[in-house]
Order: sequence, then C-alpha cells, then structure tokens
Amino acid sequence: MAEVIIVGSRRAAGALVAEAIERLVAAKADSVLGLATGDTPLPVYRALAERVRAGLDLSSLRGFALDEYVGLPVAHPQSYHSVIANEVVTPLKLDPAAVHVPDGRALGIETAGERYEDAILAAGGVDLQLLGIGTDGHIGFNEPGSSFASLTRVKTLTRQTRADNARFFDSIDDVPVHSITQGLGTILRAKRLVLLAFGAQKAHAVAAAVEGPLTASLPASAIQLHPRATVVVDEEAASML
Ligand code: GLP
Repeated sequence: MAEVIIVGSRRAAGALVAEAIERLVAAKADSVLGLATGDTPLPVYRALAERVRAGLDLSSLRGFALDEYVGLPVAHPQSYHSVIANEVVTPLKLDPAAVHVPDGRALGIETAGERYEDAILAAGGVDLQLLGIGTDGHIGFNEPGSSFASLTRVKTLTRQTRADNARFFDSIDDVPVHSITQGLGTILRAKRLVLLAFGAQKAHAVAAAVEGPLTASLPASAIQLHPRATVVVDEEAASML
C-alpha cells in the first residue's frame, strides 16, 4: 500500500514535496522530475520557486510533463507547453531545452508517443514523478479503462474531465477532446511516485486509489503496484480513507 501523509494545508504539502525534490537534486543535480499540471502541483512549484529565490540551483534538473492536449497551438495559454513554461520552467529557472512536454500537434501524432517514450528512456527514466488525480480517478490523462501496461499515446477525454477542466477555458466546448498522455505503464516505471490531492471533491478518488481494488476503472489504483509511492493529501481529500 502506498504511504499516505496527511498534511494541514496545501502550503505544507508543497513544502514537504519541495524538500524531497531538493534532496533528490542534492544527491544528483541532473535528476529527472516528472511534471504534473492542473492546480494540485502548484504549491510544490511555488515552494520550489521560493527556494530558488533563496539560492537553490535547479539549472541541471531535467523534466518530463505527463500530458498535453491534442490540437491546441503550443502558444495557447492553456496548452501544457505554456503552463509548464510559465509555472515551472521560468519560476524554477530550469533549462527550457531540458524540459519536455508531449507533442500534441496533429502532424506526426501517431509517432509522438513513441518518440516521447524514447526521450524518457534516453534521459535514464524519471526519478520522481509528481501526480495529481482527476475526480474520476485519472492520472495524467489516463481515463477509466486505461491499461496498466499503457505507454504514451492519444486518449479521448471523458465528459467529466472536460467539465472539470472547463474552468481553464471560456466554455466546455473549447476544451480539447483528445490528449496525449504518458501511460500507466510509463508512470509506473518512474523510480518514485508522489501523488497529491486536495479538497473533498478528490476524497472518493483518493480512497479508491489507495484502498480500492486494482482496476482499470480507477486508473490511479495502479499506484498500488509501485514499490515507492507516496500520497500527500489534506484532511478533506483524506476524509474517505
Ligand atoms: C488534469 C491533468 C491531470 C491532473 C488532473 C487534476 O486533467 N491532466 O494531470 O492531475 O487534471 O487536476 P487538478 O489538479 O487541477 O484538480
């Protein structure tokens, strides 16, 4: 079972995970961090940015994002290329050339997954993978039904996920229908997993991921297969454990 840490606030979660990343970088400056998007990992990025302002050097850290929307221009403010650039690369002063996001442009999409897998392998794999969780139990954009062995590929987003993410767009109709996401198999290859979740709306998915049966219907339950998975939650997200 995954190790579960219940924290008092998002800020405390951010500080805790930032400290783990700082230790990782102290041991190996060019560690590979798996990057999640959405609101959940923001306290981690903010805590790291504070440390960078105080002198922490992350310039050798490398990164791989979990996923990207298919069909959004790279420069669209809600593309994960833009989000990772604005929330991670710039504030943490990372080398932009060392931070990768799956290629969601239509041209070459059939081979984009394979190219991304090759790039992760060439980097020596992900040392620490940050994860959020969708209300339907997705991680990355691995929606219910995703194979535990899946690798980076195109997935159709569920209505629920598009509704959840509509807050980042003008309307749900503007939320892309497809994504390219690391698979559950890709995620399980990371050396360490840290899944964060905050708020009561995540409580069901967290309980099912940590204590429920291993099932493709709840993709995050795949973390139970990982030998080093940590779940960092606030009281609300832990309320159904
Ligand atoms: C998105 C992302 C996931 C993220 C999830 C939760 O769909 N693709 O990587 O974990 O939603 O988002 P949030 O953290 O904003 O609740």
